[in-house]
Amino acid sequence: MRDAVNKLKAKFVLLWFVGTVGFVVATAPVYPREQSVSPGINKHYENAVYEEWVQRFEREGREIYDKRHEIVTALALREDMVVADIGAGTGLFARLFSPEVGPGGRVIAVDISRQFIDKIVQIAKEQGQENIQGIVNTPTDTALPPASIDLAFVCDTYHHFEYPETMLRSLHRALRRDGTLVVIDYRRVNGLSSPWVMNHVRAGEDTVVGEIEAAGFRLAKTQDLLRENYFLQFKKCDDACVK
Ligand SMILES: C[S@@+](CC[C@H](N)C(=O)[O-])C[C@H]1O[C@@H](n2cnc3c(N)ncnc32)[C@H](O)[C@@H]1O
Repeated sequence: MRDAVNKLKAKFVLLWFVGTVGFVVATAPVYPREQSVSPGINKHYENAVYEEWVQRFEREGREIYDKRHEIVTALALREDMVVADIGAGTGLFARLFSPEVGPGGRVIAVDISRQFIDKIVQIAKEQGQENIQGIVNTPTDTALPPASIDLAFVCDTYHHFEYPETMLRSLHRALRRDGTLVVIDYRRVNGLSSPWVMNHVRAGEDTVVGEIEAAGFRLAKTQDLLRENYFLQFKKCDDACVK
């Protein structure tokens, strides 16, 4: 008798388990696999030699570098914030964000290049910037936990996203309610932009705004601080905003 009851219980638990898993799988959103929009654009960061890239990213004449302090001021970071520098490169901005968020805050340098992240973390340790941490992510995922960051900073990196839709979904997930996404990238204007920009950067500002708004953000502010680049601040919307 006892055996029969136990068998019945086991059957019930099994049915409940299969039913629950089936329901979760059936109702999970299914996204078609995105094709790369810029195949090979990150090839030169594979096995990157950090020092060589410092000379390219942290040099006078690069607008982003020349205006780095103004950019940080415009972000109006606060103590205790959690900021993710997505596509952190050589860590130029991660290092500047560190004192702004203070010991109670965190700066997460995220990049697909292990060489960059290892070096950023090493330098942060040497300089006593204990609130900087590093994450090596993949081209389709920030690898950040859900609702874990207040601000995502994407500088000169959006046009390096091979899978922008998938990355934007990941950024949306990682941001806390009312979180901010900042995108700084090259202006791409026919007849005005250099041939290098026209070839290297796949889309102009209007297209980028459209893509980001379609992913559940709204353009909240633009900063008129840069000449070669635009500076956009988006807010994460609730579900109603997702088209
Ligand atoms: C032109 S660099 C900009 C670096 C830095 N933000 C700056 O402005 O100095 C672009 C960076 O984006 C990184 N990257 C490309 N796709 C990425 C992705 N999906 N997620 C994170 N980093 C990415 C590259 O490895 C590279 O370090």
